Amino acid sequence: MEVVRNCSLKKFNTFNVDEKAKVLVEIDKVGDLFTFLSKENQKDKMLVLGGGSNILFTKSYEGIIISLKNKGIELIDEDENNVLVEVSSGESWNDFVLWAVENNFGGVENLSLIPGNVGAAPIQNIGAYGVELKDIFHSCKGIMIDSLNEFELTKEECEFNYRSSIFKSTYKNKTIITSVKLILTKSKHNFNIEYKGLKENLLGKELTIKKISDQVIRIRKSKLPDPKSYGNCGSFFKNPIVNISKHEYLLNKFPDIPFFKIDNNNYKISAAWLIDQCNFKNKKVKDVGVYSNQPLVIINHGNAKGKDILHFANEIKGTVYGNFEIELEEEVLIL
Ligand code: EPU
Repeated sequence: MEVVRNCSLKKFNTFNVDEKAKVLVEIDKVGDLFTFLSKENQKDKMLVLGGGSNILFTKSYEGIIISLKNKGIELIDEDENNVLVEVSSGESWNDFVLWAVENNFGGVENLSLIPGNVGAAPIQNIGAYGVELKDIFHSCKGIMIDSLNEFELTKEECEFNYRSSIFKSTYKNKTIITSVKLILTKSKHNFNIEYKGLKENLLGKELTIKKISDQVIRIRKSKLPDPKSYGNCGSFFKNPIVNISKHEYLLNKFPDIPFFKIDNNNYKISAAWLIDQCNFKNKKVKDVGVYSNQPLVIINHGNAKGKDILHFANEIKGTVYGNFEIELEEEVLIL
């Protein structure tokens, strides 16, 4: 366990903004978490940080930031078709995916190269290329911050939804997830290649977990910037969901609008397209702009401050609302 006071957060967020935390503690054993939390002044506000890949700091954090580094991937059960694995929160999500691919365990290959840590994955029910965490989720373990009681929540109890879960509502800032259990396949894989870019390249070929993972990695690398080159948090906004009458109105006015039907009354609209239509691709204010291959991603060209990024994001929101009467909602946590 390492406690640093007045700590720079630059290394701890993929937007690479240089704000400070009053206290930052790096914890590599769950046991140390209990020691630390029982000693600390519980009145201080607290934030658990995963990979810092979905957070925008716009000012100093006047509280305690816990960075969980606990590691481990354990195969805890198996039958003929499936394995149950328990993964510690501090594992990098992509390292875990690579481990699964190497072992020919199926279910997470479409989620290759998503940044961040395993413990953060349930919070917003990470998803990409037609698969969401909830599709392979079994349960997660954690600690209630106030009481230090341990808990285990099943998939149903986590209330997963598009980029959302109970950890963003009832349990917001109340828990620390310490490990996640997932069910992976070891035979009879149900490959999902519905996403356009996957289908185009893989249809008709003999599918393997490795081939899908490699293709997802290729697509992500071509569409999304590497935070080492440009600070970013992936999609800054969620794809907005509109009802059928709004959808019909939009389709009438903008026949090219890309959408995805969720159910008979709800449609998901492409936020990237909305932003693109508002001509943000070539816009840059101070050190902030959108990524040329995917305008849903806001990037830090160098030394942008968190406030500059927020200001730019608000400009996008305002313009999209002005043109389409759609309120974009941030996917990234803004502090
Ligand atoms: N588009 C444009 N202009 C562009 C780029 C894209 O108009 O310059 C339009 C195109 O019509 C394209 C559509 O946007 O077909 C969708 O783009 P993309 O396939 O990249 O998917 P997305 O809906 O924008 C979502 C997730 C991503 C995830 C991809 C793939 C959200 C908020 N984002 O993006 O997740 O990787 O699908 O499944 O749901 C993340 O959450 O950080 C993230 C990167």
